[in-house]
Amino acid sequence: MIHRHQLASLPLLALLVSVAPSTRAHQATGFKLTEPTSSSITVWTRITRDADRISDDGPLPITQLFDRTSGKETLLKDNAAYPQARPVITYPPGANLGSIRGAALGAPGQTRVRHRPVGAPSSLWIESPWRDVDPARDFTATFALSALAPATRYEVAVDDRPRAGAPVASTTTGGFVTAPAPSADAAASFTVMSCQQYEDRDRPDGFAIYPAMLALRPDFMVNTGDAVYYDHGPVHALNVDLARYHWARMYGFPTLRDFHRQVASFFMKDDHDTLTNDSHPEDRTGDFTFADGLRVFREQTAPSEPPYRTQRWGRHLQVWFLEGRDFRSTTAQDRTQTPTILGPEQIAWLDRTLAASDATFRVIITPTPIVGPDRPQKDDNYSNQGYSVEGTRIRALLARTPNLAVITGDRHWQYVSRDKTTGIEEWSVGAATDAHAGGWNEETPRPEHRFLRIKHGGFLSGAVAPATAAATASLTLRLHDTAGKIVFESTRSAATH
Ligand SMILES: [Fe+2]
Repeated sequence: MIHRHQLASLPLLALLVSVAPSTRAHQATGFKLTEPTSSSITVWTRITRDADRISDDGPLPITQLFDRTSGKETLLKDNAAYPQARPVITYPPGANLGSIRGAALGAPGQTRVRHRPVGAPSSLWIESPWRDVDPARDFTATFALSALAPATRYEVAVDDRPRAGAPVASTTTGGFVTAPAPSADAAASFTVMSCQQYEDRDRPDGFAIYPAMLALRPDFMVNTGDAVYYDHGPVHALNVDLARYHWARMYGFPTLRDFHRQVASFFMKDDHDTLTNDSHPEDRTGDFTFADGLRVFREQTAPSEPPYRTQRWGRHLQVWFLEGRDFRSTTAQDRTQTPTILGPEQIAWLDRTLAASDATFRVIITPTPIVGPDRPQKDDNYSNQGYSVEGTRIRALLARTPNLAVITGDRHWQYVSRDKTTGIEEWSVGAATDAHAGGWNEETPRPEHRFLRIKHGGFLSGAVAPATAAATASLTLRLHDTAGKIVFESTRSAATH
């Protein structure tokens, strides 16, 4: 019950709150550890206004696109880019970008990162200077930690404060492991996931695959893309602010926050977390352009440049991360040249780095399939007709190298297939949840399938075991269900060559 004198003091209290400088600086979207090497890592931080994302009871805006090319405006359907469309975003009365379901608005302030090897004395904390988060980059900051020791587990702490000189207002702790040196006869473990749609989440606090992956204690994780779906669900990302909202509501989930503070990641992008389904560089949707999509992806996931890259993890493992969106030929170019996905520079780089690699096993991680099979109506990847010329070339290029496996995201079913011509093997990690699984309706495996699982989601894990007196080094790949149970596994030993 509120007494009359308390009621009278409420407006004054509200005034005090609004004029007093904030004493708060929160981390509702946690931090991310990206691009680990044997000597460096990037720490991505973001300051938020509130300690937690707005609950899923919060209101939702209505986002609409109207076609203005014809005389009378018509409402357009979801899931495509419309260069000419007029965006209309309607908030319920009293609601705004910071109060809608899942929102975690950024806020100004300063952030710093501390790190030390696990078990080292407190005097060995290495502390970065305080830095302002960047309001032009969604109140994020990135820190490049360098001069790290290989194969070493580090603790990390991110401190935030609302302004220079203020006491620390929030601290989040976590850790990571650096890569072993390229010559080290070391084990390695990793997980790969893809395609997490907000509306298809399987826990109130996010996604079951995150605690399941964390339980495996991987050295690193790879997200192959579709980390958010800008063009799905009731709220479409029709401008940069709503694109950032998609990232905040996803990475504010406790299961994701908890994973990313403890495992380093490599983020790759695909179509839905760049702009729209099967999007190309010339596309836009509402006020959100493809260039905006590239910028927001970099802002939220801190990948290294160029986006195609390779990382060694000890003597036995080298991983390649392919970029599937930035270098695609446009629809206009495709009328006069062979359609390309990777582009000539990336293909030359792939050829060169594969030939130069002396790792025991090579793992190619691709946002979209290289082998397939895929459905005939799709025209987005190397297993589709439209890209078949370059696809044949890429599969032949990969087949020149022994001890190689391809891991793909994007497709919402799990499979392991073998290309009939080259023998290249491809593992599809599948959708992040059972609700998001689908797309392939043939229950019976085709001859090229070693494994096929079409109605459930999950993730992939990989483990390299070094050679012993009795056996050569081996690479085991496993497909898991969303709870972590192994549904298929295969181990290959190093072929002698
Ligand atoms: Fe997807």
